[in-house]
Amino acid sequence: MTDKQTRESFGSRIGFVIAAAGSAVGLGNLWKFPYLAGMNGGAAFLFIYIVIILCIGVTAMMCEVVVGRMGGLNAADSFEKLGGKRWKPVGWSGIACAFVILSYYAVIGGWIIRYMLHSFTGLIELAAQGKSAEVFSVFVSNSGEVIFYQAIFMAITAALVLMGVKNGIEKSCKIMMPMLFAAMLILIVRAVTLPGAMEGIKFYLYPNFSKVTPQTVLAALGQGFFSLSLGAGAILIYGSYLPKTANIIKSVRQICLIDTSVAFLAGLMVFPAVFAFNAPPEAGPGLTFITLPGLFAQMPGGMIFSAIFFLLFFLAALTSSISLLEAPTGYLIDHGMKRTHATLIMTVLIFLVGIPSAVSLAGGLNVGSRSFIDAAGYLTDSIMMPLASMLCCIFAGWSLKDEKLKAELTNNGTINFPTYGFWKIMMKVIAPAAILCIFATGLKW
Ligand code: TRP
Repeated sequence: MTDKQTRESFGSRIGFVIAAAGSAVGLGNLWKFPYLAGMNGGAAFLFIYIVIILCIGVTAMMCEVVVGRMGGLNAADSFEKLGGKRWKPVGWSGIACAFVILSYYAVIGGWIIRYMLHSFTGLIELAAQGKSAEVFSVFVSNSGEVIFYQAIFMAITAALVLMGVKNGIEKSCKIMMPMLFAAMLILIVRAVTLPGAMEGIKFYLYPNFSKVTPQTVLAALGQGFFSLSLGAGAILIYGSYLPKTANIIKSVRQICLIDTSVAFLAGLMVFPAVFAFNAPPEAGPGLTFITLPGLFAQMPGGMIFSAIFFLLFFLAALTSSISLLEAPTGYLIDHGMKRTHATLIMTVLIFLVGIPSAVSLAGGLNVGSRSFIDAAGYLTDSIMMPLASMLCCIFAGWSLKDEKLKAELTNNGTINFPTYGFWKIMMKVIAPAAILCIFATGLKW
């Protein structure tokens, strides 16, 4: 195991906040949140979502960061160091989860690169002829091309991770996150100034409390949890690179605030455009790769907006994928391997494991009733992430010594934390119970 002196760390607390926010802000914020809000009571959903993030999200993230910084190692070894051998599998499951998520996330990252380039080479013309659905299905059934772009996305991710925590991950996130915000603002201004935009804003934000059911609360819980990147050892390993003097509580609040703001803003970008052109509100790949290119084709300057839009998705995906690669890579580095070797080995392995996902879209490769890529997503989102995160809260709340936990959160008493008692109850009971609910409903679906 590498000794403490030589282990890498973030250059500053803000560097950590930006990198972790980069991990959290991803496709979930851009293509899933707006739809969920629009369909589930608009501002009423938003309100519930914010309450959930403030209570459960902040708690679960605080637990992950604390375990990471206290352990000072990757997920598996941090759990082992702090709780003994029997807790190690929780860390392992996190690392495995990051591995699997990245295997298919890179496939979608590849589509995004291809669409970003294609914005300039005919996408808009084809979309103008109403052919965007056809363009998408032709592309995803060409497995060779899908794998080619998946490899490019993995290579770019690897290049940034290769450069290390401070010079690769931190530095690139400090450049990419402001770009992401700028791209988003341009697209929001474009969307809300379209004639008919108001209808979309109404659909998105009109508060309708009659639509709020227990199902809504669960949907908000599941989304909040996925969106914060918990339970995959990624936030945990970033926590292990956080300087000992940094304020964990403040950092976690800021990460949650950034993540929620981007999710909220995504709705202001998507729905005004969708409603201005009378398109159906949708989520996921259908919205991103079919509906929206069709709308760009109807706007003046659509090519530019399309390119900015896919650039936004690319930045969101890349800042998440580097944290996903760092989680397993950091494990090898903690065991004495050079960063270069560790990164290359993990990149190749994850790429290979992702190939069935890439190929499954052409049809044929199914697990039960799901395509391989959907099955991988189901395994991570509905099973592995909630389970690991729930156990992480239970570990921090019940297994860590109270004085040690408090000392870590308050940097040995130098930070005032009057609400510690409240958060302790959240960690011990409320957050694990809430996560168990996501898990139970996830299994049913
Ligand atoms: N939070 C990311 C998103 O919103 C996806 C994600 C889930 C993730 N778990 C993760 C990213 C773990 C990095 C690490 O799209």
